[in-house]
Amino acid sequence: VSHVPSVYRSHEPIWDAAAAFDWDQLIDTTMPYCAAWLSSLPHRPVARPVRHDELVGQIDDHLPEAPSDVMHVIADLAEVAETGLIASPGPRYFGFVTGGAHPAALAADWLTSAWDQVAGSFVGSPTASVIEETTARWVLELLDLPRTATVGFTTGATMANFTALAAARRSVLERAGWDYAAHGTTGAPAVQVITGAQRHATIDMALRLLGIGTDQITVVPVDEQGRIEAPSFVNAVAATSGPVIAIAQAGNVSTGSFDPVEDIVAAVAERGAWLHVDGAFGLWARAARDLQHLTKGIDQADSWGVDAHKWLNVPYDCGLVIVRHGEAHLLATQKCASYAMASDDIARDGDDWVPEFSRRARAMPVYAVIRALGRSGIEDLVSRCCRLARRFAAKVAQNVGIEVLNDVVLNQVLLAFPVKDGDERFHTELIVRTLHKDGLLWAGTTEWNGRLCIRVSVSNWSTTERDIDRSADRLNQIVTRALAQRERTMAEPWT
Ligand SMILES: Cc1ncc(COP(=O)(O)O)c(C=O)c1O
Repeated sequence: VSHVPSVYRSHEPIWDAAAAFDWDQLIDTTMPYCAAWLSSLPHRPVARPVRHDELVGQIDDHLPEAPSDVMHVIADLAEVAETGLIASPGPRYFGFVTGGAHPAALAADWLTSAWDQVAGSFVGSPTASVIEETTARWVLELLDLPRTATVGFTTGATMANFTALAAARRSVLERAGWDYAAHGTTGAPAVQVITGAQRHATIDMALRLLGIGTDQITVVPVDEQGRIEAPSFVNAVAATSGPVIAIAQAGNVSTGSFDPVEDIVAAVAERGAWLHVDGAFGLWARAARDLQHLTKGIDQADSWGVDAHKWLNVPYDCGLVIVRHGEAHLLATQKCASYAMASDDIARDGDDWVPEFSRRARAMPVYAVIRALGRSGIEDLVSRCCRLARRFAAKVAQNVGIEVLNDVVLNQVLLAFPVKDGDERFHTELIVRTLHKDGLLWAGTTEWNGRLCIRVSVSNWSTTERDIDRSADRLNQIVTRALAQRERTMAEPWT
């Protein structure tokens, strides 16, 4: 291939097995499956109901005793995988908060796999190290967070939050005079956590891993959008004594709402507590001028967790932990393996900033997507998804059988399906089953104030107005039909 740098071609083969392997054939075998999958995304059913035993019948086999031809293995994998694949990177997948894979990020991810760098240190991969360094700087600029903050590339927001909270725990204990390095948590003063009732479930898990139990967590009530009640939060912080971590949220997973961080930062700072913001997807609102008002005060926090694999449309998996206090961050995650050949102060060792040691060069797809979109492209991606979410909400709100429960301030739409006689759950289950069987779009369910609801998340770079209109029309049809069927059933006389 003419544009491949000559360094690849001029090398004398020094490892016979690698030299003998037909890489072109591997690519010729694999890439048509990738291309077929990617180009099918706008057209194929988003998800087809598939039975577990059906899939086991196709995939499960006895443990291979002997080697197989690699090309056959790949072709066979691509064939058996097909039935159970979900078109979650496609334009009408509105489940969870998923994002897709932007072409630049996807291709960079392919290169990342091919290069297979040991990305934990500069000595392991100088390129990966400098790409991380540059990407970290770009992300701080895009999110307008302190340029001196430290950044780690994690597997996702769960590990980003975990890492930040590990730094927080150590830091608040040390501020309380506890020698964490020597004693760990054994005999330490209890760390108290103040957070909202609508925090993400993974926050509780992260706290559990950090040895913080429910007795140590004060849960502050939230309003109908899922936002913490700031006065209650402030009172809860003021009522504490000892080491405290406050956790706020930027982007509720059901409503997209933001905790009013601006109203709590002063109280948290006055108390000497650490403020962490879980902004798995919502933190990207800071990259869009029309959404920045939602994130006021968030830059005052001590740490942040955010995903790249959601709204930035980087392939799974990639998140970022960002910490204002570099030393606290480093003390939480730095390893001092004698053989690690740590860098000098100038070069970056990526594993200093995350719990993992050996690790993938996760920043490469992030670098590529930021390069491809630029600041204005990222702003457009984030704003456009929110516009499309509002468009979807407006279209379904006209249906008497659909209630939009949230203020659509971001990219999330929360829907309920009211019925007059009260058997709403059964009716909603029927709608969800029909929607999933239909396959034009996919959205998941959640419980909101005791009601079974559907959550629609618009977070994919490739979703268009047409996707939104077709999806809203289809949901409207399904709901209207379900209501009519219900009324017919109710009208049937007892026999
Ligand atoms: C607000 C929030 N926090 C944390 C997470 C966990 O993120 P991840 O799945 O990337 O680990 C999510 C995922 O949806 C989320 O929405």
